[in-house]
Amino acid sequence: MDRAPDTLYLHLADQLAGSIRAGTLARGERLASVRELARQRGVSVSTVVQAYRTLEDARLIEARPRSGYFVAGRAGRRPAEPDTTPLPAQAQLVAVSSLAAKVMALANDPDVLSFGAVCPDAELFQQERVRRAVSRAAQRHRASLCRYPSGSGALEFRRAVARQALALGCQLDPERIVSTTGCQAAISLCLRAVTQPGDVVALESPTSFGFLELLESLHLRALEIPTHPRQGMSVDALSLALDTQPVKAVLAVPTLSNPLGSCMPVGERRRLAQLVAQRGVPLIEDVIYNPLCGPEHRRAVRSFDGSGHVMLCGSYSKTMTPGVRVGYVEAGRWTPEVRRLKTVHSGSFTELMELALADLLLQPGLESGFRQLRTAVAARVDEARGIVAESFPKGTRVTDPPGGFILWVELPPGSDAMALFEACLCERICIAPGAIFSTTGRYRHCLRLGLGGRWDEAQRRALRRVGELAHRVLPEAVSTG
Ligand SMILES: Cc1ncc(COP(=O)(O)O)c(C=O)c1O
Repeated sequence: MDRAPDTLYLHLADQLAGSIRAGTLARGERLASVRELARQRGVSVSTVVQAYRTLEDARLIEARPRSGYFVAGRAGRRPAEPDTTPLPAQAQLVAVSSLAAKVMALANDPDVLSFGAVCPDAELFQQERVRRAVSRAAQRHRASLCRYPSGSGALEFRRAVARQALALGCQLDPERIVSTTGCQAAISLCLRAVTQPGDVVALESPTSFGFLELLESLHLRALEIPTHPRQGMSVDALSLALDTQPVKAVLAVPTLSNPLGSCMPVGERRRLAQLVAQRGVPLIEDVIYNPLCGPEHRRAVRSFDGSGHVMLCGSYSKTMTPGVRVGYVEAGRWTPEVRRLKTVHSGSFTELMELALADLLLQPGLESGFRQLRTAVAARVDEARGIVAESFPKGTRVTDPPGGFILWVELPPGSDAMALFEACLCERICIAPGAIFSTTGRYRHCLRLGLGGRWDEAQRRALRRVGELAHRVLPEAVSTG
């Protein structure tokens, strides 16, 4: 990690933002004075001033005249958080793809005010840096465009991934890393390597609709495991499921699961690695969102796995560049099969883009880029939670994730989030209705808000409007009572 003086303030801001999000620094609490903090941390006064300004810009703290800096206070209007999702049901065949496709098409429509997608807006990425890396790769590796690539991907890329994996606590052998066209493709290869049509896959509940679409296309059955909005998938419930059902693979996002934003505590990650090793069941671990958390949440389950049962999948689509379309997988004991499937199903690899991504991953300033992104999205997530608290019906619950740009909203039980989706569409606003995040029909009163896109006055107004419209879809007893 870099600690150049010009990024020290970002590091400090990031640490403080983490403490605020974790609740260690409570809303309304007074922060150390600039001089005190400079003395405590052994940094200059101007570093602290810059850090406080960054947090102020991010609306995480506020300066009060002649009193100092305070954690931005939303004490009076903090909405409750959702509870752990319910006990496992039977495994279900999946059928979410047509509604999911509709949501995605709307989410990407420029005429729609969208909370549907989960990718940061281009302006949040270091676009010039990405462009320069791609043109540098094209200059330096001209020949690669007019020849078939050979082998298992650009070694530079696989080395860069192995180096980045150190931040996840993993020591990977670059020779065993397989490049893919994104993280979803990596997961698809893993599922194909370890399952047959009709098999059962255990995963978080609710889960990413991209995963459900994948299961649907591979004719797999989903077994949804109770998941806590802060602690992630319940390892106890998973253990019970492995005892009672023929689970062939587990698919999990231990850091910032989509849509709950949960982060498994380190001890649970260790237990999960032990569990899958004992039962001989592969765990497909998705680490796509790890850079959106501070270092305390980044350690991968894979780092506790000595038996090769954890298949690590990732990409930088959410944190650096979705357009480069390069991801990776290190598939543990299934590496030869995954490599074979990769060659059969997607031919070979896009050498030039891998080289560009390797360049980006190895440049100094990568960490500070992630920190900037984290701080920028933390501010809007905080603001959006405040809008939910003010504008949505009484009894609405909303997650408070330690990073990322996704909120999961539970309207009062019995509310109809599909009706809300339709009502929003009439006003050119897109939300993602809870129904597409599960095969169980349990989340019909829920919705996901993706806050990575545009964030301006129009979006704020649109979110308030979603809250107003939500009053119309309440169950009878609540709306009249
Ligand atoms: C948890 C998770 N994994 C993977 C992906 C897809 O990643 P990629 O764009 O690299 O294929 C997404 C995108 O929404 C996601 O939320």
